[in-house]
Amino acid sequence: TVDIGSLYKQEGIFTFDPGFTSTASCKSAITYIDGENGVLLYRGYPIEQLAEQSSFLEVSYLLMYGELPSRETMESFKNSILYHTMINESLLRFFNGFHYDAHPMAMMTGVVGSLSAFYHDQNAMRDPNQRDVFAHRIIAKMPTIAAAAYKHSIGQPFMYPQNHLGYCSNLLHMFFSVPAEAYSPDPVAAEALDLLFILHADHEQNASTSTVRLAGSTGTNPYAAIASGITALWGPAHGGANEAVLDMLHEIGDVKNIPKYIEKAKDKNDPFRLMGFGHRVYKNYDPRAKIIREMCHKVLKRLGKENDPLLELAMELEHIALNDDYFVEKKLYPNVDFYSGIIYKALGIPVSMFTVMFAIARTVGWTAHWLEMVGDPAMRIGRPRQLYVGEGQRDYVPVDRR
Ligand code: ACO
Repeated sequence: TVDIGSLYKQEGIFTFDPGFTSTASCKSAITYIDGENGVLLYRGYPIEQLAEQSSFLEVSYLLMYGELPSRETMESFKNSILYHTMINESLLRFFNGFHYDAHPMAMMTGVVGSLSAFYHDQNAMRDPNQRDVFAHRIIAKMPTIAAAAYKHSIGQPFMYPQNHLGYCSNLLHMFFSVPAEAYSPDPVAAEALDLLFILHADHEQNASTSTVRLAGSTGTNPYAAIASGITALWGPAHGGANEAVLDMLHEIGDVKNIPKYIEKAKDKNDPFRLMGFGHRVYKNYDPRAKIIREMCHKVLKRLGKENDPLLELAMELEHIALNDDYFVEKKLYPNVDFYSGIIYKALGIPVSMFTVMFAIARTVGWTAHWLEMVGDPAMRIGRPRQLYVGEGQRDYVPVDRR
């Protein structure tokens, strides 16, 4: 028999790091996180400054191309995004194949992946200009596809993009317009969405971005790589947490029930976790959560919804958890998803679409990482190793002798 251990020895040393807690899979110049001190920089710019002064499309440009654009560059970038907002009519017909109650993230995975059947010239991706076309196309089309998924789920006709509107106002239009009635997107809602998208745009090598990089490293079609990112984002341990937070708040129902749920979260025999709490990298308050928390009050006030009982419940839950020894010791703070769902809900976005919203914003990060990776002449296929713990070599036993 073969001694598996000695085989590994022959191959030399490699690390065993399940969960990738301390393994850097690549070099990147896009986003910097200091988890101990709660710092997040996009291309060196603090997230707080970008949230206050920039816009989602400008941040998109910054993440992908490394510098803030001049006025002229920004204008032509915006025009290029607007040029690509339409989707092929036959792509729209894909939605008819989905049952009305399909989860929107399931539809997104399928439909975004199918863009690879419309734009399938893999060789074109060797050309940097074609890579830019891909990048602009996917950023432009995500809201259109997301809105089509939403309209399908509620049985309403699809609304075509209106390019005179801004990126987020256009998204609101495609979600909430109906042919029979005039609708004009609320600028407060569009502004809130834009800010949420800035905060969600990138977060270095999280599960979905790493998935996009790994898939992309094989040279696969980039739209297919983005679809793999959507799949990874969907889970409740990652982007699906914003939906799970709202479900959890509804389940808790009342401030008086909070202590019971805190105890459940601490009980190691109970699978329940406080959704929207904890982060692999942040061992301090997530800087994005700080911004969203503040924004939550402002947005709800401006929309006349400041007495939302869910906000009161969330704040009390945060207060109790942050003063509990278990959460203090384990450095479990609210993350970006804790308050984002409350804002999405106030904007009228249905809970099942929350993770789709996240996906629209994170598409920029996925794309920036894909561009960085494929533009690197030293790019190699990603191929993790494993620690084999199975049987040693043994002989096949014919079925009548088993
Ligand atoms: N509630 C209760 N206990 C928790 C929580 C939580 N939300 N999060 C972590 N813990 C505990 C774990 O039980 C573990 O305890 P132990 O040391 O006694 O075993 C310890 O804290 C460390 O947790 P891990 O799961 O090992 O940490 P990891 O870095 O692997 O996971 C994660 C991070 C997935 C975010 C986790 O904190 C979690 O499940 N949180 C809830 C889901 C969530 O909000 N996800 C969104 C993350 S942000 C984003 O992706 C956009």
